[in-house]
Formats: sequence, C-alpha cells, structure tokens
Amino acid sequence: MILVTGGAGFIGSNFVLDWFKQSDEDVVNLDLLTYAGNLQNLATIANDPRHNFIQGNIGDIVLVKKILAQYQPRAIINLAAESHVDRSIHGPEDFIQTNILGTFRLLETVRAYWNDLDEMRKKTFRFLHVSTDEVYGSLSAKAPAFTEMHRYEPSSPYSASKASSDHLVHAYHHTYGLPVLTTNCSNNYGPFQFPEKLIPLMIVNALAGKPLPIYGDGLQIRDWLYVTDHCSAIRRVLAAGNPGETYNIGGWNEKPNIEIVNAICTLLEETHPQSNFHDQITYVQDRPGHDVRYAIDARKIERELDWKPLETFDTGIRKTIQWYLDHKSWITDIQKGTYREWIEQNYAERSK
Ligand code: NAD
Ligand code: DAU
Repeated sequence: MILVTGGAGFIGSNFVLDWFKQSDEDVVNLDLLTYAGNLQNLATIANDPRHNFIQGNIGDIVLVKKILAQYQPRAIINLAAESHVDRSIHGPEDFIQTNILGTFRLLETVRAYWNDLDEMRKKTFRFLHVSTDEVYGSLSAKAPAFTEMHRYEPSSPYSASKASSDHLVHAYHHTYGLPVLTTNCSNNYGPFQFPEKLIPLMIVNALAGKPLPIYGDGLQIRDWLYVTDHCSAIRRVLAAGNPGETYNIGGWNEKPNIEIVNAICTLLEETHPQSNFHDQITYVQDRPGHDVRYAIDARKIERELDWKPLETFDTGIRKTIQWYLDHKSWITDIQKGTYREWIEQNYAERSK
C-alpha cells in the first residue's frame, strides 16, 4: 500500500481517485482537512475498503509513526502543503509550519521507519515529494523554460517554503540515502480546485455575476497542465524515476492570465448565450512581488520516463468548466465556510 498526504485537497483527491482507476493497491490518506481539504472530493470512494482516510498533521510525529507501523507503506506521496501564494503573502506562518517544519518532521519519521525495513523493502521504498515550478522564480519573456538544473530563486513566502522543503528532501537523500524523488510541476487546473485559484475563481465569479479580478495588467504567464496529467506523471515517476532525481512536469502550455480569463468567458457564453461575461473583467491592484512568467521544460520526463500529457488546454478547460457547471452544490458548500472572509480580505484591498 501507499501513503498519500494531502489527499483531500485538489491534486491529492484527483490523485487518489485516479489511483483506484489504475490500480487495486490500497491507499492511506493522511490529511489535516484545513480550509483546502474537503472530504466531499472523495465522496465516490467513501465506502471503498481500499481507501483508509486519517485526519491528521504530517508534522505529528507520534501519529505518523503509528500509521507507518500499522500500514507499512511501500511508498509515500507527499502532497500536503499550504498552496496559495496570496494567502502566503497575507500570513506566511502556516506555510513555514506545514511546508518546512511539517515536511522536516515527516522526513525524520520516515527515515526512522525506512532504516528498520529489511534490505529488499529498503531498496524499493520511495518518498515522492510533490513540488512546484515556483521554486525556480520568475522568467523574463524570452528566457528558456525551467530545466531541472535551473537555479532555485523563490520569491514569495509560499515558493520559499516549498524551496526549503525541496532542499530538505534532497538533503535526506544525499546524507542518509533515503530513496526520494522530487517533482516540480507547473500550474494545475481541473475538478475540485478550491475557488481561490485563478481558473475556478473566474468560473465561480462569472456565474455569480461578480467581478473577474485581473491582477495588474493580466499579462503574467503561467504554464497550465490538466490535473489528471499531473497525476499520471506522479505515477510514472513513482514507478520508474531514479532515486535522488528531480523531474519537471508540464504540458508546454504557456498562456497570459488575461487569455485564460477571456477563454473562460467565451466558453461560458456558449452555455449561457444571454450573458456577456467579458463585461465582468475588472483590473485590480497587482499581487506584491508577482512573478511574471513560469514555463516548464518537460523534456527529461518525456525522454527518460516516456510520459506525455493527454489533454490539450482546449480539452482540459472545457472539461473543467463543465465540471463546475455540474457541481454547483460543491461550490455552495465551500462558500458556506471561511471562504467569504478570505475573498473579502484579499479583494477589498485590491479594488481600492
Ligand atoms: P490544496 O491546497 O488544494 O490541498 C492541500 C491539502 O493538504 C489539503 O487537503 C489540506 O487539508 C492538506 N494539508 C495542509 N496542511 C497539512 C498538514 N500539515 N498535514 C496534513 N495535511 C495538510 O493544494 P494542491 O493545489 O492540491 O497542491 C498539492 C501539492 O502540489 C502542494 O504541495 C503544492 O505545492 C503542489 N503543487 C500544486 C500546484 C497547483 O497548481 N495547484 C502545482 C504544482 C505543485
Ligand atoms: O506554478 C505552480 C503553482 O501554481 C502552485 O505551486 C501553486 O500551489 C498554485 O496556487 C499556483 O500558483 P499561482 O500563483 O500561479 O496560481 P493562482 O491561481 O493563484 O494565480 C495564477 C495567476 O493568476 C497569477 O499570475 C495570479 C493571477 N491571478 C490570480 C487570482 C487568484 C489574478 O490575476 N487574479 C486572481 O484573482
């Protein structure tokens, strides 16, 4: 069996659901259920005996030790993190606690578990750390895309905390020989993404007749990958990646933010011909220290592990929009929580 952390979040829940479509191997899912964790994402496997959900913190050494002893996983996929850049700007503390200290404590607990495994299991064990392209910092317009050799130059509290966790993971391989794998992926989108992030926020706001807030000039570039393509890449790295190695994951899909928002408006107008969602586009104050461009050079994972994404941006964004149109109660339930407070905190300031 494998242990997935953060498996009730956006990528984590997609990963767990996708895992059971490809495999019968059991999953232990450890998630703290912060504002971003949502058991509704896992409703379709609520009674599946292959799925063992445990609410808890990756930094809780006693709990993680107990889980490892009881379930004896052959691999750990570490997705648990604080993940939203704007929240890290408003309050970095949680990012330091989970992304740095939490990862450190998880690594320490896993190292003790791994040390006690027999030689065969020790050799095949894997700790796969899911990270981000943001650790490489911002690219200028014409600079080549990030390769795995690119210098770490994180610029937000979020990316700095992820960079720290990556360094710790690499150090545990170099120093203790722990068989780690690191993946650095570009921006994901798809079902179950919390509507604080660009794509779901724009869909949800558009349908509610609210402003579509574009930070700054909207010309910042992100490199978009449909979430199940990220999941297939993680599975591939787990199965065939070399311990100690890093794999960049992306789908060669660079787009300026304003183009993404225009595409969402145009597609929504196909299903809502009476509406003009483009009229809701509103330029607001920029994100402090906003990274201008990310782009992933995915040639290593394509060449060495024969991985390729299945979705284009056009197919992926259509599926995503349809998913949000079909899951209005999922959106309503999220909006009942602390969501509104966050939206007020983040956007009231910007529209001044
Ligand atoms: P998310 O915020 O949607 O989900 C994070 C999950 O982790 C939540 O379920 C939350 O409850 C859980 N969690 C938070 N702190 C925890 C703790 N201390 N212990 C246990 N669980 C905890 O995030 P996401 O977008 O699904 O991202 C998952 C991972 O992928 C993160 O590590 C992120 O840095 C990385 N990543 C995300 C993207 C993206 O575009 N979303 C791209 C590349 C990499
Ligand atoms: O690159 C990978 C990263 O992508 C992940 O590591 C992060 O976890 C994930 O949140 C994402 O970070 P971004 O900051 O790129 O994503 P976000 O959706 O917050 O913003 C995407 C772009 O859209 C960014 O340039 C900021 C802009 N934006 C965002 C919001 C929420 C807006 O213009 N308006 C908005 O309201």
